[in-house]
Formats: sequence, structure tokens, C-alpha cells
Amino acid sequence: MKTALITGASRGLGRALADELARDGWSLVVDARDPDALRAAAAGLGPSVTAIAGDVADPAHRAALARAAGGGLDLLVNNASALGTTPLPRLADQPIGDLAAAYATNVLAPLALIQAVLPALRERRGAILNITSDAAVENYPTWGGYGSSKAALEQLSNVLAAEEPDLAVWWADPGEMRTDMLRAAGEDADAAPPPEEAAAALRRLIGDRRPSGRYRAFDLAGPR
Ligand SMILES: NC(=O)c1ccc[n+]([C@@H]2O[C@H](COP(=O)([O-])OP(=O)(O)OC[C@H]3O[C@@H](n4cnc5c(N)ncnc54)[C@H](OP(=O)(O)O)[C@@H]3O)[C@@H](O)[C@H]2O)c1
Repeated sequence: MKTALITGASRGLGRALADELARDGWSLVVDARDPDALRAAAAGLGPSVTAIAGDVADPAHRAALARAAGGGLDLLVNNASALGTTPLPRLADQPIGDLAAAYATNVLAPLALIQAVLPALRERRGAILNITSDAAVENYPTWGGYGSSKAALEQLSNVLAAEEPDLAVWWADPGEMRTDMLRAAGEDADAAPPPEEAAAALRRLIGDRRPSGRYRAFDLAGPR
């Protein structure tokens, strides 16, 4: 049975992706900070799910996730993410402490989790999917803090892909989704498509084991 570790799987894209993989028979390790929401989400993911509540920025929590993933891992999805200061400030007004915390969640935690599970991924010639954003490459005013953290995640993915040729390393922009995060950013989330659409597109990336690189869910989407 294939095993995936997905961060931030109690709602939104992480949960939708966990649903996709559970339907395909994957064994899952999932997390989120709110234990009740995580427990409720995990209950719908079938029998092969291990749910561990915690913050990806916490080294002890990451160690617990890596232990649960075990000696062989087929897929790591770094999905959990922080917006940082809301309402989103212009860079001139960006509180640096908030930005450091967002970088800890969006850049340093994913890299540390990759480091923790790399031996298990190499064992299975597995894959890493880092969820980024169009904000990593576009210059939307007020998105510079969050966007620069996603740009950092993209470039470390890019270098990792060169350093680990036996793994597939994908960094993917899911596009706008009707989730709490988009709502918290002050955008019209109700006008965006549900995260299930991006999850179905990303499932193709995983199922086809596309080459390492940057992908957009929009380009991967098609008839199911
Ligand atoms: N929504 C969009 O339009 C959009 C667009 C481009 C990219 N993205 C990216 O897509 C990914 C998923 O976003 P989403 O919209 O699905 O967000 P969401 O609905 O807010 O869900 C985020 C999930 O991550 C968990 N989480 C957040 N911080 C965490 C932490 N520090 N440690 C562990 N779990 C944490 C949340 O649970 P807890 O709060 O209980 O921890 C929740 O399960 C993110 O990487 C985001 O940057 C989203």
C-alpha cells in the first residue's frame, strides 16, 4: 500500500487531496493544529489514516509525523501554510515578526519535514509535492510577504529536484480556491472554485508521476 504524508489536511485543499488519495487506496498520515477538526476530517478518510495534531513549525511535531510515516514513504505533500499578517499589508508596513513566523511555516517547516523524511522517500523513490501560489511569481500589491515565502518554497523545490534526481519533486500553484485561507485574505472566496477541483488535478500529477517541475492545477485539469 502506498503511503502519503499530507500537512494541513483538516479542511481546504489538504483535505480534498487526502480524500482523493484515500479513494485510491493510499495509507495516509495527516496533520493540522486544531485536534477536533482534524479528528472529524480523519474520520472520513477510511481506515488507513493516522492523524497527529500539531503545528508544522514545531520540531517535535515534525518528528512525530516522520515517525508515523515510517521507513518507507511514497509522497510528502507540504500543504499547510500561513498568510501572515491580515489584512494583508503593503511591504512598507509589513510587520517583520509576522513575516518571520509565516516564513517559519511556509518555508522552513516544509524543508525541515523534507529533511526528516528524505531517507523514507529515497527508500521508495517517492515524490514531494510543495503547494505554492501564483503569488510566488506575480506582483500583486499586499501579497509580497506571503508571496515571497512561496517564492522561497518554489526555489528550494527547484534546487531539491536537481539534487534528488531519483525523487519526483513538484511545486504546484493550485489556483484560487473557495477556502478559509482565501476568505481570510479578504478575497471573494465564494467566487472561486472548490478545492476539490484543484485536488483532482493534482491527483493526475501524482498518478502520472510527471517529471519534477512547476505545475499549475489549471493546466493539469481536464475531464475526470
Ligand atoms: N485558497 C487559495 O485560493 C490558495 C491559492 C493559492 C495557493 N494556496 C495554497 O494552498 C494550500 C492550502 O490552502 P487552503 O486554501 O486549503 O487553506 P485552508 O483552507 O486555510 O486550510 C489550511 C489547512 O492547513 C492547516 N494548517 C494551517 N497552518 C498549519 C500549521 N502551522 N501546522 C499544521 N497545519 C496547519 C489548517 O488547519 P489548522 O488551522 O487547524 O492548523 C488546515 O487544515 C496552502 O499552501 C496555500 O498557501 C491557496
